[in-house]
Amino acid sequence: MTDHNTVSDHSTATQHSTATDRSTVPGHDTALPPGRDTVLVTGAAGTTGSRLVPRLLALGHPVRAAGRRAPELPGTRPVVFDWHDPATHDDALRGATRLYLVPPTAAPDPAAVMLPFLALARTAGVRRVVLLSSSALPAGGPGVGQVHAALPDLFDEWVVLRPSWFMQNFTGSHPHAEAVRAHGTLMTATGTGRVGFIDADDIAAVAAHTLTSTPLTGHDLVLTGPEALSYDDIAATLTTVTGRLVRHHPVTRAQLRDRLATDLPTEFATLLADLDHAIADGTEDHVTDTVERLTGRPPRSFRAYAEDWWRG
Ligand SMILES: NC(=O)c1ccc[n+]([C@@H]2O[C@H](COP(=O)([O-])OP(=O)(O)OC[C@H]3O[C@@H](n4cnc5c(N)ncnc54)[C@H](OP(=O)(O)O)[C@@H]3O)[C@@H](O)[C@H]2O)c1
Repeated sequence: MTDHNTVSDHSTATQHSTATDRSTVPGHDTALPPGRDTVLVTGAAGTTGSRLVPRLLALGHPVRAAGRRAPELPGTRPVVFDWHDPATHDDALRGATRLYLVPPTAAPDPAAVMLPFLALARTAGVRRVVLLSSSALPAGGPGVGQVHAALPDLFDEWVVLRPSWFMQNFTGSHPHAEAVRAHGTLMTATGTGRVGFIDADDIAAVAAHTLTSTPLTGHDLVLTGPEALSYDDIAATLTTVTGRLVRHHPVTRAQLRDRLATDLPTEFATLLADLDHAIADGTEDHVTDTVERLTGRPPRSFRAYAEDWWRG
């Protein structure tokens, strides 16, 4: 199997390479195209960020592509940015008026890291913020839910994207994908609960819309694919598409937590196991029309996603 972790409209990315570089050269910030706000994309090399960047470039927005290793993405200005290193924050924000925020990975208290950065961003001239959260984390809830709750007091223009679980979990470098490749198994604490799995490309399409639309569309957007599926359904589809047997292996919440805690901080492993277990209670058994309403096209089904990925 190969990972289908590519952007669908990558070819457009190279068409806008010159305007972006000038935004980070001292004294050239005023040379940006009028009306085209510069967007700082955190997690730019990640699952959603890498799909968002070419969309923003195609819309004519200069992009500062942020990551700990300053990701080299065509048409963008790579910038070093580490959530845990405030010394990188001023420079990353230079010239940016819009922000796409991917929270720090595996941070038990992301608000402690993100809120000081957001205060700095406001002072630096950022006017619009789009935060990637999760359908399972409401405003004021644990983790990124705390950042969500703070946004209205910081920015007039803010949107929180709350996607359901990603289809890419089964095809990329996520532990589920690795377990499918290695053993043909999907271990979860979800029982027969169903999830509105979503393609990260559809998340990126909504992110691009919310970062660039005038006026701003929505504040709290729950994003799903077109149907709610159980992990048994996912295993069956992967079996059909790949011709290799894939099985769902249900475990208890405690078993999952202990398994995850071998690689992750205990607090974060517990949060992930709890989120998984909540699916068994039906918390993710729904779909929304947000993707189609904002992008004008329906979200991709898991079957279509898996077939495209398998074809490479
Ligand atoms: N997977 C799902 O099913 C699912 C569902 C709902 C919500 N979510 C949420 O989606 C988010 C992940 O988004 P994603 O999938 O687009 O990203 P991702 O593929 O997990 O990549 C994370 C990105 O963040 C960067 N990064 C990691 N640590 C960093 C740090 N300390 N400072 C700055 N950048 C850092 C990484 O780049 P560098 O290594 O270059 O720094 C990478 O580009 C998580 O918050 C998760 O809760 C996931």
